[in-house]
Amino acid sequence: MSAHSFTDGVPRFAGRNLTKHYGGIAAVSDVTIEFPSGTVTAIVGDNGAGKSTLVKMLSGALRPDSGTLEIDGDEVRIPRPAAARELGIATVYQDLALADHRDVAENLYLGSELIRRVGPLRILRRAEMRRGAVAALDELKVRVPNVDREVRTLSGGQRQGVAIARAVHQGATILVMDEPMAALGLQEQGRVISLVERLAERGLTQLIVSHNLDHVFQLSTRIAVMRLGRLTALRETASTDRSEILHLISGVGRSKGSE
Ligand SMILES: Nc1ncnc2c1ncn2[C@@H]1O[C@H](COP(=O)(O)OP(=O)(O)OP(=O)(O)O)[C@@H](O)[C@H]1O
Ligand SMILES: [Mg+2]
Repeated sequence: MSAHSFTDGVPRFAGRNLTKHYGGIAAVSDVTIEFPSGTVTAIVGDNGAGKSTLVKMLSGALRPDSGTLEIDGDEVRIPRPAAARELGIATVYQDLALADHRDVAENLYLGSELIRRVGPLRILRRAEMRRGAVAALDELKVRVPNVDREVRTLSGGQRQGVAIARAVHQGATILVMDEPMAALGLQEQGRVISLVERLAERGLTQLIVSHNLDHVFQLSTRIAVMRLGRLTALRETASTDRSEILHLISGVGRSKGSE
């Protein structure tokens, strides 16, 4: 079976022949990967396999040595982070970039603040942003104590919820997440997992790096395995199991002959 045989038509998002070296180290070697619309692709692999390097190239945070990105079959370039946002690509990292000393509502509108111009003055439309933030969080069932709270006072899970809600609120349709659950307690992990499930129902295309195979099997439609900088296998989650994925990650043992 070819790695992409269950991908019909033009994928929503794709990276082709992506390569990145650091000095003599090939962090990512010639990876081609397609993300069909509405799928959740889990990217798994050992420490140092190249997962973060790959997703940074996919989100425009890191320029590949070679290779291209495509959205709906068209090549796209991301010369600066703002370009990713214009293309609808948003990234959520484990140590995410929220503005700690601003409140939840301000974070949801960061970089896209609602402004009223009065002569030479630019006045923030605070009440409107607050209402918008409450509605956006409600819609995704992201619970925070209060949108007036500075985000540094929120728990890890609440912050992760705000970061994801911000991406969606600002129009992201492709969501790239690198270990978003890693620093969270069990209950908060569960919240982020259900958020991913709700976003999948809304048709978002999601990529999520995770070391936690329970999470991977719970939330993904497909599992991409990286090893030593290469994409070594791609499976439909429904037609594989933990044991096969563990063996694919380590590169030894059981083989189904379909890599
Ligand atoms: N900025 C960098 N400078 C030099 N080498 C790097 C850099 N970033 C990553 N590497 C190297 O590239 C390889 C891939 O790293 P990467 O962070 O992509 O792995 P990963 O799969 O995300 O690992 P982990 O599961 O530990 O997060 C590793 O050998 C790493 O040491
Ligand atoms: Mg990593």
